[in-house]
Amino acid sequence: MLKLNNIEVAYLNVIRVLHGVSLNVEDGSIVALLGANGAGKSTTLKAISGLLHVEEGEVTDGSIEWNGERMDNKSAEEIGKLGIIQALEGRRVFGHLTTEENLLVGAYHRKDRHTVKEDLKMVYDYFPRLKELRHNTAGYLSGGEQQMLVIGRAMMAAPKLMMLDEPSLGLAPLLVEEIYNIIQRFNTEHKTSVLLVEQNVRIALSIAHYGYVVENGRVVLDGSADFLKNNEDVKEFYMGLSTVGTKKSYREVKHYKRRKRWL
Ligand SMILES: Nc1ncnc2c1ncn2[C@@H]1O[C@H](COP(=O)(O)OP(=O)(O)O)[C@@H](O)[C@H]1O
Ligand SMILES: [Mg+2]
Repeated sequence: MLKLNNIEVAYLNVIRVLHGVSLNVEDGSIVALLGANGAGKSTTLKAISGLLHVEEGEVTDGSIEWNGERMDNKSAEEIGKLGIIQALEGRRVFGHLTTEENLLVGAYHRKDRHTVKEDLKMVYDYFPRLKELRHNTAGYLSGGEQQMLVIGRAMMAAPKLMMLDEPSLGLAPLLVEEIYNIIQRFNTEHKTSVLLVEQNVRIALSIAHYGYVVENGRVVLDGSADFLKNNEDVKEFYMGLSTVGTKKSYREVKHYKRRKRWL
């Protein structure tokens, strides 16, 4: 299980971005980290995967535990070896390598080389499109295909915890649904825990078991997916739905803000 205890993160020693984020990812579960642009979702993932250092960021307080052991002092390399794998946002593929080479890169630190071939088959079974494109240069794949590729590459690492940063970003709704079905299938079939970052609250809660809402570097609300789906604030502010009328008064908004602050 992954456990974040009140972590604070600053970039360049001065830009404080997370102000005490706590969350758990139980083994085998899908957890959604929700929130608007700039809330601190990607920063949270990078704090876990050890990639903060690349951007002069640092966990300045709190702790991160993996199966009861502190891991916030480990390097990205060591964290990867624990089986915690982050698929990067923005579909960062190695543009000059082929699809298949990109997938094999995902397995580079694995010792069980003999199963890598089988896993390649597994990824092609999840993503038949990637099989068709296996000899194509990744840089020329479409946005959706590159998104499939970064997820497939994360699968190739035989992850215990797979972290995905906005897998739906910029994709057509049908494709988003397809990719989400695959994430859900992978979770069920491999018991891999998934920590999912999304602005698309509706789609994230369609497969998540539990969710956290992050605002300005703080968790302001958390609960089961069903609880969040039915929460009026989540519906109003993140799903654009409201059962209490479309126009909320300023006072009500202020009330919401105050409530947010004290949650
Ligand atoms: N490398 C960085 N240096 C300085 N500030 C950053 C850096 N990366 C992100 N930030 C800031 O941290 C805040 C949270 O960013 P981020 O974690 O990317 O949010 P989200 O993923 O929720 O959109 C934003 O205000 C952003 O400008
Ligand atoms: Mg982000």
